[in-house]
Amino acid sequence: MKTTISIIKADIGGWPGHAWVHPKMLELAAERLREAQRRGLIIDYFVYNVGDDISLLMTHTKGENHPEIHGLAWETFKEVTEKIAKKFKLYGAGQDLLKDTFSGNIRGMGPQVAEMEIEERPSEPVITFAADKTEPGAFNLPMYKMFADPFNTAGLVIDPAMHEGFLYEVLDVYEHKVYLLKAPEDIYSLLGLIGTTGRYIVRRVYRRSDGAPAAAVSVERLNLIAGKYVGKDDPVAIVRAQHGMPAVGEVLEAFAYPHLVHGWMRGSHAGPLMPMKFYSIDAEKRIAVGARMTRFDGPPKIGALGWQLHDGYLEGPVDLFDDPAFDYTRQLAAMITDYIRRMGPFQPHRLPPEEMEYTSLPKILAKIQSFSADDYEKNRQAYIKRALASAGLVEAQSHD
Ligand code: F6R
Ligand code: MG
Ligand code: MG
Repeated sequence: MKTTISIIKADIGGWPGHAWVHPKMLELAAERLREAQRRGLIIDYFVYNVGDDISLLMTHTKGENHPEIHGLAWETFKEVTEKIAKKFKLYGAGQDLLKDTFSGNIRGMGPQVAEMEIEERPSEPVITFAADKTEPGAFNLPMYKMFADPFNTAGLVIDPAMHEGFLYEVLDVYEHKVYLLKAPEDIYSLLGLIGTTGRYIVRRVYRRSDGAPAAAVSVERLNLIAGKYVGKDDPVAIVRAQHGMPAVGEVLEAFAYPHLVHGWMRGSHAGPLMPMKFYSIDAEKRIAVGARMTRFDGPPKIGALGWQLHDGYLEGPVDLFDDPAFDYTRQLAAMITDYIRRMGPFQPHRLPPEEMEYTSLPKILAKIQSFSADDYEKNRQAYIKRALASAGLVEAQSHD
């Protein structure tokens, strides 16, 4: 039997601002997925948030990009928007639902999608990730570490089943091109691309010995869909672990160092990715309540839930960053947060203009005067005199 794991996630309203989600949103979403489970459309499900984003995790046998599964997610997000987000006037109600009518596939409509159809192994450990206040390229570095860096993943060196390495599918989101690069042979080229995290995104990873899917990352750049910047595309990902894949601890080790990612306040700042615990997990209601984004709307955070899949059922979740060993990472991320915040509006804390969610630059430029640099060089004193006079600082007279 082939099982499909689908995660479809969206920001459909924050409580308050862009900080968190309202618990009633998670409850209504879980209710709708429970009904879909009863109808037999999905095998199992779980609903959780990190920050202001809600992930709908669903397992089924319908394959990837199935209209009924995507439709279920779309309708659920719509209803939660109407009945909860709009009712409570939550902030940005329905913000990621960019289109009016559903046409069979939710990709390109605003929500993020990570899907993987797999043949369940005799034992199938799976980790699902969700991050807020960042972009899909935030996974580039950890995906590299997990599947290509022997200093992170010991198995690449000492497990014969992993020795052949992994194949990376990289998407150029600007030119809409795909690159397939092999680790270890092509790692210099791979790094040459994926170091540019806003453009070349690791979308999938496959095990080379048998082509088995190893990881899937959501890559829908909202700004490219909407034609204008509508927010960083807080990403989700699925990773399979153990038995010829990185061990659970090797997957998580990739997050032990809080690397800098783009996003954070107004989608326009670089900051550390902080691995976070969930506040609560209700395995009965199939709901987990994740991180809040409060320091400068962040810092960017990631949650990891661990599952054992059995015939499509999700045994779990286990909150994988709920380990004192990650307290140090959180502490380090908090220190980096404090350090980098002091740069205020200066790069590299503030992103370069082309990566910013908002830019006031055209308005600023329209308000202030500029002069030809050549002409200015010749008449510097006159220009300065005029500027001082207009500011009312000196009389418009010559002191030469
Ligand atoms: C970043 C984010 C927040 C908002 C900020 C301003 O992705 O969601 O940092 O950008 O709170 O929000 P608006 O412009 O909606 O007032
Ligand atoms: Mg939001
Ligand atoms: Mg968000």
